[in-house]
Amino acid sequence: MKKPPYYLVYQNDFACLTALIPYLKHSDMSSFVHALSTQRTKFDHSMAVRYDDIFKAVQKFAATTWKNGAVPAFFGDEKLSIKRLAVLEQLLKKLGPWRKGPFDILDVSVKTEWDCDLKWNRLGLVEDDIKNKVVLDVGSNSGYYLLRLMEYLPKQLVGIDPTLVYYFQFLVLKHFSNESSMHMLSLGFQDLEPLNQVFDTILCLGILYHHRHPFELLSILKKIGKERQCLVLETLVIDSKEDVCLSPKEAVYAKMPNVYFIPSVSVLKSWLLLAGYKKIEVGEVFVTVPEEQSKQLDWAGEYSGISEGLDASDPSKTIEGYPAPKRVVVRAFC
Ligand SMILES: C[S@@+](CC[C@H](N)C(=O)[O-])C[C@H]1O[C@@H](n2cnc3c(N)ncnc32)[C@H](O)[C@@H]1O
Repeated sequence: MKKPPYYLVYQNDFACLTALIPYLKHSDMSSFVHALSTQRTKFDHSMAVRYDDIFKAVQKFAATTWKNGAVPAFFGDEKLSIKRLAVLEQLLKKLGPWRKGPFDILDVSVKTEWDCDLKWNRLGLVEDDIKNKVVLDVGSNSGYYLLRLMEYLPKQLVGIDPTLVYYFQFLVLKHFSNESSMHMLSLGFQDLEPLNQVFDTILCLGILYHHRHPFELLSILKKIGKERQCLVLETLVIDSKEDVCLSPKEAVYAKMPNVYFIPSVSVLKSWLLLAGYKKIEVGEVFVTVPEEQSKQLDWAGEYSGISEGLDASDPSKTIEGYPAPKRVVVRAFC
């Protein structure tokens, strides 16, 4: 049987660790390396071999430049023939489902489930948050936001996401962008516990409500951020002035599985204060619009539409009878 492609993972982990070494002086390196190697044993080996074969075939294509923007686009020296375009499109589709994007790769439009430019604009990031900073994106998925962050020239940029297919999607984007300071580790946030005071800016978008221990997540983020860190947290909230938190029955909310806790803004603020953040700036509460989600089934696989999760007779409620989803971007400082 073919061996899992550890060499590829190790090569990328090694490049990321080397880049982070100057910032790891307060961290427990041996526990962190142990967490990385333990994570490797959890890979689905047959899928890893499959994705690796596809990725090797994708690497036969190359880009010479790329352009950042709502749809990050990668360009080669010459236009591909129709036959080669079809080959690349098939390879990229096999690395699906593509959830976060979209991208334009050598004239192949990778049409992802979500149009992430809308969320990106709502984050309201400014150059000072990122330029020359060591930046982490927790739950980075394909790496769409990592690419967008490159616009502001971070010193080092690291994404983490434990889902194997997203790791390979990132490798594709890294291959075509050739950005040496952009990295991704196939880890969950829990695996970062051995780190201490590493990152200047941390993005945590669309993650908090998916975890059984939201307070643990915030505490880990506080610990791995530097003393004067900035946390950019985007999450679901319940639109209430009260100190309340919704825990949806069977963790299903607007048909979305694995949604454990949705706090009101005031509860979110008190979680952040308890985790050790001192100054909290709360942005506007907004509604996710159906236009953010497309029905590109051939790229994104199964579709779970926002509008399908709402009560057809009263869209201010979810299908389960809860208040309809609202989201907020919070900036927290130590
Ligand atoms: C709802 S998506 C959000 C993606 C992106 N941050 C965004 O806002 O568009 C959740 C992501 O978290 C990742 N994830 C799951 N468990 C995680 C964990 N323990 N730590 C970090 N990321 C995790 C999933 O693989 C998925 O890519």
